[in-house]
Amino acid sequence: MASIDYTDKIPNNVNLSEDKALQRALEHWQPNYIDWWKDMGPDGSQNFDVYLRTAVSVDPQGWANFGHVKMPDYRWGIFLNPKEEGRKVNFGENKGQDAWQEVPGEHRANLRRIIVTQGDTEPASVEQQRHLGLTAPSQYDLRNLFQINVEEGRHLWAMVYLLHKHFGRDGREEAESLLERRSGDEDNPRILGAFNEKTPDWLSFYMFTYFTDRDGKFQLCALAESGFDPLARTTKFMLTEEAHHMFVGESGISRVIQRTCDVMNRIKSDDPAKVRAEGVIDLQTIQRYLNFHFSVTIDLFGADESSNAAIFYNSGLKGRFEETKRDDDHKLHGRGYTVLGVQDGKLIEREVPMLNALNEVLRDDYIRDSIGGVGRWNKVIEKAGIPFRLQAPHKAFNRKIGTLAGVKVSPDGRVVSEAEWAQNERAWLPSAEDRAFVASLMGRVVEPGKFANWIAPPVMGINRMPVDFEYVRFN
Ligand SMILES: [Fe+2]
Ligand SMILES: [Fe+2]
Repeated sequence: MASIDYTDKIPNNVNLSEDKALQRALEHWQPNYIDWWKDMGPDGSQNFDVYLRTAVSVDPQGWANFGHVKMPDYRWGIFLNPKEEGRKVNFGENKGQDAWQEVPGEHRANLRRIIVTQGDTEPASVEQQRHLGLTAPSQYDLRNLFQINVEEGRHLWAMVYLLHKHFGRDGREEAESLLERRSGDEDNPRILGAFNEKTPDWLSFYMFTYFTDRDGKFQLCALAESGFDPLARTTKFMLTEEAHHMFVGESGISRVIQRTCDVMNRIKSDDPAKVRAEGVIDLQTIQRYLNFHFSVTIDLFGADESSNAAIFYNSGLKGRFEETKRDDDHKLHGRGYTVLGVQDGKLIEREVPMLNALNEVLRDDYIRDSIGGVGRWNKVIEKAGIPFRLQAPHKAFNRKIGTLAGVKVSPDGRVVSEAEWAQNERAWLPSAEDRAFVASLMGRVVEPGKFANWIAPPVMGINRMPVDFEYVRFN
């Protein structure tokens, strides 16, 4: 096998060239990664030169380079945030110990599971999004899609680095399996539910990057607190890139709403059929997509009561969001937390030990954060003078995991009968017809500065480039 010069090919700050065992492991894995990218990465993009940012350091002042890159030649780098001298384990039974630089033997299996579960989401989203390039509403959007795809690829590299560096042979096997599972595959699916759903159109893509990449943010924030220092340092740097993914989602939905509102005001109608006839997406359909993506994403936090969550916390592997900013004892024994349950056909609140409810704690933090964007979208509608407001559904709506799985709850939080659910499902969740309508609008717009009819242009371009910059050269 040809040797690969990692200092040249893979930008890194982990002294790759000095760790021969690691270098061998990565040399073995890298061609398989490229094969996966060619198979499952963005469809038909192999020859495009795309204006992408590439991480080249962890300096907050200038961590990325921008320039046109042929996508399969993207330099997927490995970066860890700098070591904090004297960092401790900040929560759980081991609180106060020095943070671990090597995997503690007794936590090895759990830690591997946490890293594999996070790592699995990264290639999954690339697979979910692989056909979207064929229907991009503009060059600007196409570039953003590809930026997210290459960075999810880099996030996979980040997790594979940890597996190769710290988990020996089983780490190498897990790294191979990360390239073998496929989103939505019946026999060998990705690990988590939302990462096996389709992302068939650009409205789904923006919802996904707003809601589901934000789940990524919260998981990464919880792992950035980890007592296993290499995991904390690598996830901290991943968060730097994640911000842009969520921006693409939030601004994408804003632009869809803006365009719809402009058309509604021009035709002076709020009738969804008339709005659709103008080739834009009615606000009701946007609400249904929102309901779907919100509910599927909050399932990703796991069961409301979970002994695994307690173990991960007790052992110092996975903290809470902003763990070190909280002023409690960071051990949480004897503390309670409120979760939802169902009694006599009604939702009730139940107090359970907080240690067992840490998935719910993280989910609630996530919900607070994600609702902010819904408020900002409503500002766009309000500014247009239209009396419609989007709303995040109740957290018990359409749940498939935990106590609420299987309970039928309306978006406003009422437990409803099977019959009422069946009657309203089309008003609450995207129907096949909604999806077909949205799909019918999708068509490729490739001329610089031009945008599909159903979406407004962005306020500004990427990296201070003009909106009509040639972000993608198709060659
Ligand atoms: Fe990611
Ligand atoms: Fe992301």
